[in-house]
Amino acid sequence: MSRRRILVTSALPYANGHIHIGHLVEYIQTDIWVRFQKLRGHRTIYICADDTHGTAIMIRARQEGRSEEEVIADMQRAHVRDFSGFDIAFDHYGSTHSEANRRVCEQIWKALNGAGLVFEKDVTQLYDPVEGVFLADRFVKGTCPRCGATDQYGDSCEKCGETYTAADLIDPVSTLSGARPEVRTAPHKFVDIEKLHDFLEEWTQSGDHLQPEIANYLKGHFLKEPLRPWDVSRPAPYFGFEIPDFPGHYWYVWFDAPIGYIGSTLEWCEKTGEDFDRWWRDPQTEIHHFIGKDITYFHTLFWPAMLKVSGFTLPRKIHIHGFLTVDHQKMSKRRGTFILASTYLKHLDPAYLRYYYATKLTPRVDDLDLGLKEFVQRVNSDLVGKVVNLASRAARFVQGERLSAQYPDDGGLFAHAAGLAEEIAELYERCDYSAAMREIMLLADNANRFVEERQPWVIAKDSQRSDELRDVCSVALNLFRQLAIFLAPVLPRLAQQTAELLHAPIERWEQAQTPLTGTPVGRFEHMMKRVQLSQVQAMIEDSKAPESEATTGRGGETNADPSAATADEAATDGSQDSGEWLEKEPLAETCTFEDFMKVDLRVARVVAAEDVTESNKLLRLTLSLGGDRRLNVFAGIKGVYDPEQLVGRLVICCANLAPRKMRFGVSEGMVLAAGPGGKDIYLLYPDDGAQPGQRVH
Ligand code: MSP
Ligand code: ZN
Repeated sequence: MSRRRILVTSALPYANGHIHIGHLVEYIQTDIWVRFQKLRGHRTIYICADDTHGTAIMIRARQEGRSEEEVIADMQRAHVRDFSGFDIAFDHYGSTHSEANRRVCEQIWKALNGAGLVFEKDVTQLYDPVEGVFLADRFVKGTCPRCGATDQYGDSCEKCGETYTAADLIDPVSTLSGARPEVRTAPHKFVDIEKLHDFLEEWTQSGDHLQPEIANYLKGHFLKEPLRPWDVSRPAPYFGFEIPDFPGHYWYVWFDAPIGYIGSTLEWCEKTGEDFDRWWRDPQTEIHHFIGKDITYFHTLFWPAMLKVSGFTLPRKIHIHGFLTVDHQKMSKRRGTFILASTYLKHLDPAYLRYYYATKLTPRVDDLDLGLKEFVQRVNSDLVGKVVNLASRAARFVQGERLSAQYPDDGGLFAHAAGLAEEIAELYERCDYSAAMREIMLLADNANRFVEERQPWVIAKDSQRSDELRDVCSVALNLFRQLAIFLAPVLPRLAQQTAELLHAPIERWEQAQTPLTGTPVGRFEHMMKRVQLSQVQAMIEDSKAPESEATTGRGGETNADPSAATADEAATDGSQDSGEWLEKEPLAETCTFEDFMKVDLRVARVVAAEDVTESNKLLRLTLSLGGDRRLNVFAGIKGVYDPEQLVGRLVICCANLAPRKMRFGVSEGMVLAAGPGGKDIYLLYPDDGAQPGQRVH
């Protein structure tokens, strides 16, 4: 297989808003593809940047009393932080407001002029006399000229669906100042892309560059008629690059935004000493753009036209994805489903979303749904239940030892999975991650079945069978590592943890062909926790309240838990109980859900209990949280509970209490009990079925 040279981009996010889980569909999709190509050994770079220009940024800067440069610098920092929180790894993350980008814009502008494609024409637009700016359609509201509905935006009517321009509105007002806009005329520069109609017809319909549904859409909508000239300039004031041969006028944001792909690459080349022409002027280089369906037009018509005229390499492929819905509805601030990347990261592991999106992504342009319950189930049953569990069930019996010197007989499991490596690779290549995840989980099922049949935990009890135990665990860990390699593009952290556990870095796809033998096994560290629906609910609640309210603690009203209603109803049955305890100890001040979640309550098994002879109150308990996690706890229950009677029982403990030094030793937690103390004390027990280590909430 020859080594390809691949340049990959995602759309450049607008600098006037934070990254949310809708954006992440795209950046995760692209990052997976890039990591996959790198794992295959291809020379691949991932380029992105912030899209910084336009009226919206200018207005925001005015409102905040800061310069545009300050506003975009802040947002860029936030974007970079959010992306890295999701392990989205760019080779370069630039900005469209860079000198490199300005240079490329000038170059392309010259080429368009040189080809005779640029002409000037007067345009009438609404102008806000108070703010002193021309108004884009969405900054104007008024009455629909067709149905008379009031309070409609300047591009279309929400009531009757009519589309129009802002100048057609009856009684228009500027949403910026509330002033009545004036009609003003100014010259604009246009690109006559109809002159490239034949080229665009051929390029879009060749079958190689676009998904079939996109090619058909373009053919049926735009290419069947002459292409309308493209208005690429805006008069001052505008935040952008001034056009060199047109003083007082700026390139429209959508002109310099895609050029940002090239500008950002140029910046990277200047930083690293790479040869720029190799990346953008050599047809050997494959250029792949990942975008959402809403910006198809700009990328499939204008962009190839601009590249063609200026002699840059045309994209090999434009991968277009659909939009995210949450529980089958549009993301909504009111419902708390407009979830910012940073909010997600406060509550959940990024690996969950990377995996979940992977199970949903296909090469088609269909919208994809984040089902919140399904999300929890998928992550728990696949990632935790099938993948991580495989490692944890085997690693604990061989940690600190070595894998078998020869790969044992596994009934052909490893070879079978190795034989599917190319098929899985092909699915990644085609962006059919959903099918790839299904294949990989079938392999995980096979591996788990092997472990269940061979029962290492039973073998471990018999010291005569240590060779057999090593063999079974060597197979299980190798099958696990093979899965971790196949999943590495999606779950880079898991690949890293696997590399550490088995002392073998995961760097190449081909490594799935050869099992590890004789290598040391490290200490098994917990790799991934189960996700709880309550964590997802907390994230939703957190997304409902605006930032300021959430931090001043006014989240209370929106934090109403629907299940609280049933608790209230149940309490009416308890009216025969006296109110004395509440009187003796009134309810504490309200705490937030976040505060509550800080207290990590766990189910624990009492594995040892003894009298503290020097104390007349305390028993010393050794609690097990499962595995080899033990806590030493002193409990004031002497004389109420017999130590013997406690051993083997499940209790609830606070497992993250700061250790406390006492006269008799360090107490590392606290066992939950009700009552005022002395003889009047009652331990809490979980219901049957609870397991040590499970969290209580
Ligand atoms: N700035 C332009 C892109 C310029 S590219 C030269 C832009 N920015 S954006 O921030 O609005 O969107 C960035 C990308 O995220 C786009 O590809 C867009 O389609 C994608 N998404 C934004 N919201 C999305 C969803 N709700 N669902 C899926 N993708 C979404 O467009
Ligand atoms: Zn209307």
